[in-house]
Amino acid sequence: MEYPKHVAVIMDGNGRWARRQGLPRTEGHSKGIRVADDLAHWSADRGIRYVTLYTFSTENWKRPKEEIRFLFSIMVDYLRERLPEMVKEGLRMRFIGRRDQLGRELTQFCDYIEESTSKGERLDLLIALNYGGRTEIVDALRKIAKTGADPEKIDEQAIASNLYTRDVPDPDLIIRTSGEHRMSNFLLWQSAYSEFYFTETLWPDFNENEFQSILEDYSARQRRFGSISEEENPEQH
Ligand code: IPE
Ligand code: IPE
Ligand code: MG
Repeated sequence: MEYPKHVAVIMDGNGRWARRQGLPRTEGHSKGIRVADDLAHWSADRGIRYVTLYTFSTENWKRPKEEIRFLFSIMVDYLRERLPEMVKEGLRMRFIGRRDQLGRELTQFCDYIEESTSKGERLDLLIALNYGGRTEIVDALRKIAKTGADPEKIDEQAIASNLYTRDVPDPDLIIRTSGEHRMSNFLLWQSAYSEFYFTETLWPDFNENEFQSILEDYSARQRRFGSISEEENPEQH
């Protein structure tokens, strides 16, 4: 079976999961963060090298302040506690998104986690935090413009190499939970040829069995990247 090299996940449905059980939305986020941690393990166990988790979008600032504060604070508490094990497990963590809008304390925390895990070679875990696909493209173009580059020389490679994900292969598979069929501003550039999988499962209920069956579905797909199938292509014979 062929596993994807890079899996990206839009972890959606925490709020609905909690509400369905008569709990505050925050309970869904608390359960959700543990599932995210599990997913990193399920992936590393299968030799998947890159995992990107959509954790907070540039649009999520529209949520109540209390919920935003809670989200950031459980993330910090969780990572602080798990850091020694993450280092032992060979996990390299990186944050993608506009970091300067996160405030000094959180920015420093992200830097600290990145430095502490920088030697990890088993799994690259990318946390999309204050991430927006459009913002990312704007930031890349600003960087290019600042170099005074000749417009004729700006090509796809120039843009790709100025994205937050410059040294990461494009996601092979993007999973979205909770039954919503949209991108919500996630990895717009990088998903040009990604395979998508949408499931009704709410993120806190996502489990290893479902992950495995999604990977099996992925491995049975034929990716053509604009070409025709190998069997039909005379130039492949
Ligand atoms: C995803 O769950 C987590 C974040 C966006 C931070 P939601 O909080 O969006 O849950 P629903 O979609 O309201 O159920
Ligand atoms: C996408 O979920 C963002 C994250 C999972 C972090 P949202 O819940 O914010 O997306 P919309 O608003 O339903 O499109
Ligand atoms: Mg949602």
